[in-house]
Amino acid sequence: MSKVTVIGAGNVGATCANVLATNGIASEVVLIDIKEGVSEGKALDMLQASALYGGSRIVGVTNDYAKTAKSDVVIITSGMPRKPGMTREELLGVNAGIVKSVMANAMKYSPKAVFIVVANPMDPMTYLALKSSGLPKNRVIGMGGALDSSRFRCYLSMALKGNIADVDGMVIGGHGDTTMIPLASKAAYRGVPVSKLLSKKVLDKVVADTMVGGATLTGLLGTSAWYAPGAAAAFVADAVINDRKKVIPSCVLLEGEYGQEDICIGVPAVIGKNGCEKIVKIELTADEQAKFEASAAAVRSNIEVLKEINAL
Ligand code: NAI
Ligand code: 2OP
Repeated sequence: MSKVTVIGAGNVGATCANVLATNGIASEVVLIDIKEGVSEGKALDMLQASALYGGSRIVGVTNDYAKTAKSDVVIITSGMPRKPGMTREELLGVNAGIVKSVMANAMKYSPKAVFIVVANPMDPMTYLALKSSGLPKNRVIGMGGALDSSRFRCYLSMALKGNIADVDGMVIGGHGDTTMIPLASKAAYRGVPVSKLLSKKVLDKVVADTMVGGATLTGLLGTSAWYAPGAAAAFVADAVINDRKKVIPSCVLLEGEYGQEDICIGVPAVIGKNGCEKIVKIELTADEQAKFEASAAAVRSNIEVLKEINAL
């Protein structure tokens, strides 16, 4: 028996719940929102789809955290999405209040859960969730790298005209247009480094497209994307629920790793039933290490803003 609560029944939360339920990733999925009727309606819709395809038991509730009790994983998607032209960082103040309050509510009923933070700006929100809850660092994980890496692999597969499943690629650093670091030096197609298969010009474009992957979709959709984000959050939850021990770039607390202290930022991590079970050290090129340091400085400045507005 496994139970996942998804907080926020908007685009990302509902999609995530649907991926979890349709694929039977958890035995029970609870979708919770503050908007009366929305989570109930979406969950019932998903339950009706299970008549056709099977899937998990799913319920929707409005603000009733008792129904989320004893969840193994809690996914926080509640928060404002960005609109065209907005950065993720502009969401800082409003989403800080939401993340802190839903985290406190969920913890009352699921003190042993692993928490996955999705709300933006995700890196400082993960730090806030970790510090405000007092939970051990392995049990608070931010999801951004799983999504950014799937975008990287998608653009690589298009450039290579190959199957996305044969493409390996990882994005570390902050989950921001200028802070994420697609690791082109480590990307491979069927084990062959992509630098041997694509020209520098094409590879640079793949990296640039990946970095603005979210902004491109926000421009097209008028709000931020949800299919890949929802699937990516479900992917991380699956690694926890089913103890997959997968290496997933995830936003976790660093205590000296990659030369950084007291910051939550994306690095490769082994994700299993205990949440972040290990931070994996990979060799970075000098350029990648410099970019990682710049990315950490940008994330740190958002953490400082949280302190200035007394959210931390
Ligand atoms: P949305 O507006 O469609 O949904 C947000 C939902 O949260 C709404 O239904 C709203 O009623 C609910 N909500 C607000 N306050 C709440 C509270 N106190 N308790 C429970 N529910 C509450 O937004 P969308 O597109 O689903 O995005 C959600 C968040 O995820 C945004 O902050 C967005 O920027 C972020 N995001 C993060 C990604 C990542 O990779 N980390 C990727 C995509 C989006
Ligand atoms: C995304 O990457 C905006 O974080 C959101 O789609």
